[in-house]
Amino acid sequence: MFKNDVVGVGVIGAGEIGAVHSENLARRTRRARVTAVMDVDGERAEAVASACGARAYTDAAALIADPAVDALLVATPDATHADLTIAAIEAGKPALCEKPLATTAADAQRVLRAELAAGRRMTQVGFMRIYDRSHVEVRRLLRRGDIGRALRFRGMHINPYRGVTTIDRVMVNSLIHDIHSARWIMDAEVESVFARWVPAQPDEPRSARFASVLMTFEGGAIGSMDWSGNSNYGYEVTMEITGETGTAGTVSHTSPILRQGSRISQAVTPNWPERFADAYIDEAQIWIDSILSGQPTGPSAWDGYMSLVVAEACIRSTQTGQPEMPQSIKRPAIY
Ligand SMILES: NC(=O)c1ccc[n+]([C@@H]2O[C@H](COP(=O)([O-])OP(=O)(O)OC[C@H]3O[C@@H](n4cnc5c(N)ncnc54)[C@H](O)[C@@H]3O)[C@@H](O)[C@H]2O)c1
Repeated sequence: MFKNDVVGVGVIGAGEIGAVHSENLARRTRRARVTAVMDVDGERAEAVASACGARAYTDAAALIADPAVDALLVATPDATHADLTIAAIEAGKPALCEKPLATTAADAQRVLRAELAAGRRMTQVGFMRIYDRSHVEVRRLLRRGDIGRALRFRGMHINPYRGVTTIDRVMVNSLIHDIHSARWIMDAEVESVFARWVPAQPDEPRSARFASVLMTFEGGAIGSMDWSGNSNYGYEVTMEITGETGTAGTVSHTSPILRQGSRISQAVTPNWPERFADAYIDEAQIWIDSILSGQPTGPSAWDGYMSLVVAEACIRSTQTGQPEMPQSIKRPAIY
């Protein structure tokens, strides 16, 4: 089915992450080739396409129809994800869709319906933390029983300043990473959430500088997630699991610890491209391997949907001031 057992990838969206994925697929992924790049900004499409030896497009439908495109990587703004992923499914082409799968759970359900109509899983969602080696190792220890039953999840997601944002967007676009991480590592769905936040600007109450979510999981464990929109020092993502017989946590920085001049110091990772550089490469490779083997893997459209269901419960909690329960449909058999 694939020419010379190589998957031709069409990248839609040649912005910051689209460029990272294109370069990884073109130079660091076995059995993959970037054959086409599309962006509404023709210059961006051309720049990324020429760096990969690919064809540039400004029309998504034309790229999807290109016979050199076997699979799609969707890296456009959030509001376009569901429609582009559905177009890929309808064309019979698997897609790696950046997070979030959609901007609402109802929109994500349209993707689920398209996959159900196709009768198979075709979408992987870009929750790449599950490919970060430190996260993978913590999960392995947990599954092997090294720290006993998981009692508590604690996630921390600290960003350098990326512009003014709202608490609604934080939940759907950013904390959604931590929501997926929590579901994945705890191997349990979130049962309730209670969200609080500090506005970035006092006269704009739904602007967000810092947010915290307390949560309970089905099965009885508890958890929390902290999010910052302006650390003033760099980027950090960590999670820690407290188990019945021990605790396991991921590391945030791998730079050396320096002792000098009466001080101990360690360089902080500036932002996500540096912190998760290896995870994006592993994500791309595992996605390509799964397409070639016909065995879908990684975060599914169901995971994309369920993470949005939890994000929406967090938003409701910010509106009601009360704990809220995620409201989901029944899990279809293909997931
Ligand atoms: N998994 C991660 O760690 C991660 C990291 C960054 C971004 N993201 C996600 O990736 C997506 C893109 O983020 P980004 O930071 O690269 O944004 P960006 O603004 O840098 O790039 C988006 C690109 O999409 C183009 N575009 C806009 N509308 C389009 C359309 N309808 N069709 C085709 N192209 C269109 C823009 O011209 C731009 O080049 C977002 O959904 C974001 O949530 C994920």
